[in-house]
Amino acid sequence: MGAEASFREDEFFGREEELHALTRAALEGGRGIGSSFMIYGPPNIGKTSLLLKLAHVLRTSTGEGLPRPFPLYFSFSQILSHPLALSQHFLQEFLLQLLRFLGEAQPSAFNPAAMCDRLASFGVTGCREVLAAHERCTAEGDGLSALVNALSFPFSASGDLFYPVFLFDDFQYTGKLQGVPDGAMLSILRPYIKSGHFPMFLSGSSPGRVTASLKREGLFGTFQMIEVAGLSADSSIRLWGHLCERRRVEIPASLLPRASERLGGIPVYQRMLVEEIFFRNAKVPDAITLENLYALAVTEGKLNRYWREFFENTFPDRSRRGRAIRFLKRVLCDRFPLDTVEGAISLMGVSQEEGEEILSALEFKGLLKADLEQLSFVGDPVLADFLYWAFERGVLGKGTSQVAAAIVQAQLSHGSPEPGQGADHARRVAIVKELMRKWDLREVPLLLFDFGKFREKFGGKGLLEVVIGMEHEAMRVRLPKVSSVSTGYRASRGGPRFDFDLVAYGFLEGDFSEENLVIWAVDAAVEKNLGARAVEHFENRCRLLALEKGLPHDRLRKWMLINETADPAAVDLAEQYGIHMSHPTQVRLFLNLFGLEELEREPEPSRSGGAPAPRAGKPLEYELVLPMKADSEVVAARVAEEVAAFAAVDADTVDRIKMAIIEACINAFEHSASESGKVRLRYLLSPDKIELFVQDDGRGFRTGKAAEESKKNRGWGLKLIRELVDDVEIITGPDGTVVRMVKYLEAGPGKPATAKETGGPASPGER
Ligand SMILES: Nc1ncnc2c1ncn2[C@@H]1O[C@H](COP(=O)(O)OP(=O)(O)OP(=O)(O)O)[C@@H](O)[C@H]1O
Ligand SMILES: [Mg+2]
Repeated sequence: MGAEASFREDEFFGREEELHALTRAALEGGRGIGSSFMIYGPPNIGKTSLLLKLAHVLRTSTGEGLPRPFPLYFSFSQILSHPLALSQHFLQEFLLQLLRFLGEAQPSAFNPAAMCDRLASFGVTGCREVLAAHERCTAEGDGLSALVNALSFPFSASGDLFYPVFLFDDFQYTGKLQGVPDGAMLSILRPYIKSGHFPMFLSGSSPGRVTASLKREGLFGTFQMIEVAGLSADSSIRLWGHLCERRRVEIPASLLPRASERLGGIPVYQRMLVEEIFFRNAKVPDAITLENLYALAVTEGKLNRYWREFFENTFPDRSRRGRAIRFLKRVLCDRFPLDTVEGAISLMGVSQEEGEEILSALEFKGLLKADLEQLSFVGDPVLADFLYWAFERGVLGKGTSQVAAAIVQAQLSHGSPEPGQGADHARRVAIVKELMRKWDLREVPLLLFDFGKFREKFGGKGLLEVVIGMEHEAMRVRLPKVSSVSTGYRASRGGPRFDFDLVAYGFLEGDFSEENLVIWAVDAAVEKNLGARAVEHFENRCRLLALEKGLPHDRLRKWMLINETADPAAVDLAEQYGIHMSHPTQVRLFLNLFGLEELEREPEPSRSGGAPAPRAGKPLEYELVLPMKADSEVVAARVAEEVAAFAAVDADTVDRIKMAIIEACINAFEHSASESGKVRLRYLLSPDKIELFVQDDGRGFRTGKAAEESKKNRGWGLKLIRELVDDVEIITGPDGTVVRMVKYLEAGPGKPATAKETGGPASPGER
């Protein structure tokens, strides 16, 4: 059977704090001051193991003269949904476990009467009577009474030898009993819980339901909550040690901290990965191999099977399963900001009823937590990778190895950098990002981009001399007006095919139209001496990006920043490919030209409310015309992100704005049937709000034969947009549709003075 049968006490690691708190509460039950706990967490995190470990600790504790705690473990997941069956099963477990606790060997047959007699010989009286009553209820087919009777057994049977401590596992299943109202179980247990003599530890994966029942029973305050999450880094590493030794698998100790983090410290994943490595008879010499083995496990091996079975069990119906997976993928991988039931149902694009059923199933299994309509989802890195796989394969039809490669690449490029490099790299990226933001159709000497020539000409000269010398440079480039600079390109799970440190979208001639679009891809080298291979790699990624975006040769600008030096071969190759290459000195000159100070320590100061320049004056306005084709909405979102960055908006609001504009664009792309095939975007940033306009020249919402359908199809996206922004206005007609979205900005705590000056409400409390 389940975890109880396979639990091995000596294979349990960590969770010292939880065990300590629970043990103490259990022992205090002996003095009538025990407290009760509600233990919850996602599936397979280790709730059952924690209870079983606790049972072991309690069994071996000695209570000098006092009654001993008798840990009674009972899982509600195994029982059938009939209360009679449950009562029978409970009775049996109680008698067996108690006899074992008192030192009896396992009886060969289950004979309740004989067991009661044995118990009497230990001084445990009153069993026979309860048993007789139970038999009567059973004969009458009165399930509820039988259940009340069985559950009262431990209380009536206790003597001064011991007192029961209840470890009730998978408690959410009690809500599924036939003919028994939700929460009845708690009503039955209520007097015992209240007494403080019988510590009650309920465990399960959907705290929402159980806490709702607790509240209804007025018991909520009596319970302390413990959320079970991954193991601490320390315990996790000890578990690696144990597992590797058992399977004679060798993983260098230096890889373990990162590997633990990779698996969210979740023990069952560690187990599965070690099994996978053992099964493949693989050697793990380095991080890349480990990452590859992990990717295999999650795309076709054990980790994959585990989650596949999980979803097959949870959603036997295929199309519903697909919907649930797509939904979770958007939430867990793409980090769609979502916290209400309504928003979730909109995102799924299904009927209210089906949406609620899907959410309910996910909650039952512990993948989401619902508290007063507020939803929060598990943050499980392995599940996220699984969903990515399922989506890429099921929806986009990609092959397993393609997905695995993408997972490996994403991980390696985003994994923690070597010590000492990380901060410096991030700082350089932040500097360049700031720099690009300042580009505004200016002409700068081309030499600034060309490392080889720059060195020839200015090598050995001082900064000031160079700046003066630059004045006379004839060769100049015109830098586009950059509207958006983002770190990475598709760095999220949407498809980490090419991954750059920075991608900037710019528009030549200050005209924000597709024809004038220029994309800059930037990489800041981490290696001290840049080699030709890194250049080659960069060029390849650029080619892919250009292909995907359909960019003409000169509209993709490629720029590499050297860390310290570069191989002559790398410099040659860069020249051949037309990659700009700059040295830190050159970048410093850039900063000088653009009147920027080099950023100190903290990257991205603009977000923390440093100097929100445009907020005080007139609204800042951007306009942009985009073709209705795949990924245009990403450009729209990126621009929104940058506009928001000007206002030092918090990350969550930025996400919401981005998602809203993406939805509005997709709506226009899919349902407007526009002939020009273009969508016009306007961004308006004022001190107190951001306004976004998405305009198409299609057929509007209501005209034509497909009116109903068009309305319906747009409906989900609109609902979602309403979730995401504060105000939505739609003007639609036969000439097209404009969706206006407004997000009001709060005056952050960093700038109360300006908020007042601009006529905000007098008291900050009113906001
Ligand atoms: N602290 C731990 N140390 C080592 N292994 C653990 C630990 N906790 C859990 N495990 C392993 O993880 C597996 C899953 O744990 P367990 O069955 O306790 O999870 P659960 O939270 O009860 O899951 P469910 O939601 O399915 O009931 C166990 O079989 C065990 O091998
Ligand atoms: Mg369990």
